[in-house]
Amino acid sequence: MTQFKIIVGVFLVAAVAGIAAWYGLQRDVPATTTDITNPRLVAHGQKIYAENCALCHGVNLEGQPRWDRMKPDGKLPAPPHDPSGHTWHHSDQRLFLIIKEGLATEEATDMPIFGGVLSDHDIWAVLTFIKSTWPEDIRRRQPIFRSVPAS
Ligand code: HEC
Repeated sequence: MTQFKIIVGVFLVAAVAGIAAWYGLQRDVPATTTDITNPRLVAHGQKIYAENCALCHGVNLEGQPRWDRMKPDGKLPAPPHDPSGHTWHHSDQRLFLIIKEGLATEEATDMPIFGGVLSDHDIWAVLTFIKSTWPEDIRRRQPIFRSVPAS
């Protein structure tokens, strides 16, 4: 009988540990960087993009027509986030700050400031989604630490 209780006890401990581990894996740990190998982060970013960015930057990240030419109101259209744009000319850190704090330009701009609207996790997720659409050679050419001037 004692042996039976030990077996049941061991089984219960293992079951509880297993369930705890499973919950741990399911929980979203807030992202602090981009990670295109994390499918949950990519999927979350895709949703954030559709809800917050697609209206201006395009459903397929194609940007607005004639995006490199000034509009009559003196502002620039939204550029593409696909490889034909210049998003990949900026480091992750710089892009994170553009989205969170704005473009920090004296010029009038239609690009909203998302700090207070999106969490840091949401911003890393949307960047992860954008990067996940880039081919490998573009990802390799993206600067890691600093921003290079857009050409
Ligand atoms: C209301 C329209 C609008 C929305 C919504 C919008 N943007 Fe923009 N965005 C712009 C415009 C316009 C520019 C170019 C502004 C300029 O250069 O003055 C821009 C520029 C940018 C840039 C810098 C240019 C580049 O590609 O390097 C990034 C990054 C960016 N947007 C990301 C985002 C993300 C991510 C979202 C969604 C979370 C978003 N934007 C939502 C209009 C918008």
